[in-house]
Amino acid sequence: MDGRIAAVGPQDALELRFADADRIDCGGRLLMPGLVDSHTHAIFGRPRFEEQELRAMGLPYMEIAKRGGGIHSSVRDLRARAEDELVALALPRLRRIASYGTTTVEVKSGYGLTVVDELKTLRVIRRLQELLPLRLVPTWLGAHEVPQEYRARGDQGRADYLRLLVHEMLPAVAAEGLARFADVFCEPGVYTVAESRVLLEAARVAGLGLKLHADELQTSGAAELAVALGAASADHLAAVSEDGVRALAAGGTVATLLPGTMLFLGSARQAPARALIDAGAPVALASDFNPGTSPTVNFPLVLTLAVSQLRLTAAEAVVAGTVNGAAALSLAGETGQLAPGFSADLALFDAEDVRELPYWYGDRLCRGTWVGGVACHPFEARFTSQP
Ligand code: NIG
Ligand code: FE
Repeated sequence: MDGRIAAVGPQDALELRFADADRIDCGGRLLMPGLVDSHTHAIFGRPRFEEQELRAMGLPYMEIAKRGGGIHSSVRDLRARAEDELVALALPRLRRIASYGTTTVEVKSGYGLTVVDELKTLRVIRRLQELLPLRLVPTWLGAHEVPQEYRARGDQGRADYLRLLVHEMLPAVAAEGLARFADVFCEPGVYTVAESRVLLEAARVAGLGLKLHADELQTSGAAELAVALGAASADHLAAVSEDGVRALAAGGTVATLLPGTMLFLGSARQAPARALIDAGAPVALASDFNPGTSPTVNFPLVLTLAVSQLRLTAAEAVVAGTVNGAAALSLAGETGQLAPGFSADLALFDAEDVRELPYWYGDRLCRGTWVGGVACHPFEARFTSQP
């Protein structure tokens, strides 16, 4: 078996055609494409629960970052940890992600911000891919922040870090083939639209696909940049402008929405999902799993938020979490659909109707997943039996 779906159809017809095949008894439950989580920052050390309380007391996310918390705090932490330790920390987190029905996980670097620590993070992702049957997609996010030691030196420090990203870090990442995509946190106070363009153009020349943290907290025109550069996705978009919505509808860039992030930040604002869909933009959903703004491993909960906060139908949410998530990773012909030729990336849920996924919110209905036909969750699965 090559791990691909050979045929889809009524059970009787398939049983006749594949009389010798192994069978998995799904007990009449819901079998669907495994969920595709196209945006996570899963490689980190210490969780940052103290910041949740600070925000509740009224301190905004960007203010916490200015005081050396936020991403900076995770950077200090990750730099002090060895590769082995990061592998050991990420493994159970990824297993928990898998246990909710996710079969593909994009994983970003971005808490290293030195050549050594970004390569270390990306090597951790590569090692995890060898250890887990989950499908992992690595993204280089060396431009997640301007590191504090460079910020302290003002404009000159900023320019120096940009040079390091383009002329040292990116070539090193590309030479080792450690990343499929490059991403930038394009946000006022972090990277400008002009800086993001320079970085992404260099990444494209180095052979990487492009993604962008775009218009998350403030409108900057980042979505328009992502479309202009032909990025696979523009992510967040809670503050996207009407021009940005039009650009996403007209271009080939997937609009990836992360409603868990806005919920966890305590923001009343959400991305204009209905406007995006109604304008014809392809919309994906993702968890944004990270220690600062979205520490959830529960993708079906993101589907719940998509229906109740973003006003998607259950069907739209499921498409956004499978087919369109795959497109956001340039894997549209590979995963996210039950169709002949696609990888057998499957999730079995204790449900009869797909609308139960967003409905039983917070619950874990997943009973098993397969990636390329190989049992992924539970890891000791004994689902196969000879007929
Ligand atoms: O997608 N916005 C930038 N990056 C993450 C947050 C990272 C962090 O706070 O550690 C996000 O929300
Ligand atoms: Fe993110």
